[in-house]
Amino acid sequence: MLLHGGFGTRLRPLTHTGPKQLIKVAGKPISQWALEDLRGSGIKDVAVILGNIAPERVVEYYGDGSWLGLNLTYIYQGYPHGLAHALYMAREFVGDDPFVMYLGDNIIFEGIARFVKRFEESDSEAMILLAEVPNPQRFGVARFDDKGRLIGLVEKPKEPPSPYALVGVYFFRPPHIFRAVESIKPSWRGELEITDAIQRLIDWGLRVDYDVITGWWKDTGTPEDILDANRMILDSKLEGRILGRVEGAEIQGRVYIDEGAVVSRDAIVRGPAYIGRGTRIGSGTYIGPYTSIGSGCEISNVEIENSLVEDGVVLKDIDSRITDSIIGSRSVVAGKSNKIPSGYRLILGERSQITL
Ligand code: TTP
Repeated sequence: MLLHGGFGTRLRPLTHTGPKQLIKVAGKPISQWALEDLRGSGIKDVAVILGNIAPERVVEYYGDGSWLGLNLTYIYQGYPHGLAHALYMAREFVGDDPFVMYLGDNIIFEGIARFVKRFEESDSEAMILLAEVPNPQRFGVARFDDKGRLIGLVEKPKEPPSPYALVGVYFFRPPHIFRAVESIKPSWRGELEITDAIQRLIDWGLRVDYDVITGWWKDTGTPEDILDANRMILDSKLEGRILGRVEGAEIQGRVYIDEGAVVSRDAIVRGPAYIGRGTRIGSGTYIGPYTSIGSGCEISNVEIENSLVEDGVVLKDIDSRITDSIIGSRSVVAGKSNKIPSGYRLILGERSQITL
């Protein structure tokens, strides 16, 4: 079960026109990294839970999933009534089979294959994944007794009982989890919380296991998270490859240049960086480390680094370096001469038009 709904409030305006899970990092939507992880764990059938923000885009992009080696079923949740509500939407789809619920905005470096295996081999009712984090207040947090047994979960606690946050991947065996969802009430924020449902399983004396992930993990709720994910993916998952045309430009480090892309003679691309299909990098351009540029972009006379640029963006003649920015698809940012601004930081929604 892949959760593809939600409000995406913290990523507005990017999420006015599409779900956050479709934001592409290094050429792939965030949710595609999750789907590939599910496939890599031996899972073939996935229910994609759709929300209210342009759900048709999700269906259009993934189709029946066969191109990814998956068999996808779409379930419309609509208004995001909470993770437990989303899970409940898929009860007929899962039937009696054990299943994984994967939040489509989470990226887990080490993948979940070993956890899927562990859960399959166990007879526990549920298994959660935890990660030690410096800021547990932002997450669901685990509570343990003095023997290290999991005794509870608290959603976004002011005073966290441990530094262990819930990662957005959960393992369940029907039917108790569905009974647990039926027994809970919406929380103060009006959502059916998955933490409350799992707490029920624990309170009913059912076995809930946990495992701790050791590699990086990213829950991409905010612009900063998206840029972190971009950095982490470019750092550790990108292979350097030049499929497009490099007209004598300087390419340094690990850079992926997709088919049909053209990098002009006096441009510099310093990896790790990704340049999408058909994008033109014109003269006087510097693409710095940790930058993902989408497909069909036109970039000339611009310096940019540590940024994410979506498809069809035009950037030209900008005096100052663009850094730490997310630029939504089909935005246009064009500079004009004789102006010396410095340090722009841009988080632009789709179809923005900016003249600097
Ligand atoms: P969140 O990031 O907690 O919520 P959100 O998408 O509403 O974002 P914001 O707080 O910025 O408004 O959701 C976690 C994941 O679960 C995310 O991938 C969206 C998905 N989701 C659903 O599919 N259905 C739901 O009912 C909810 C609450 C979230």
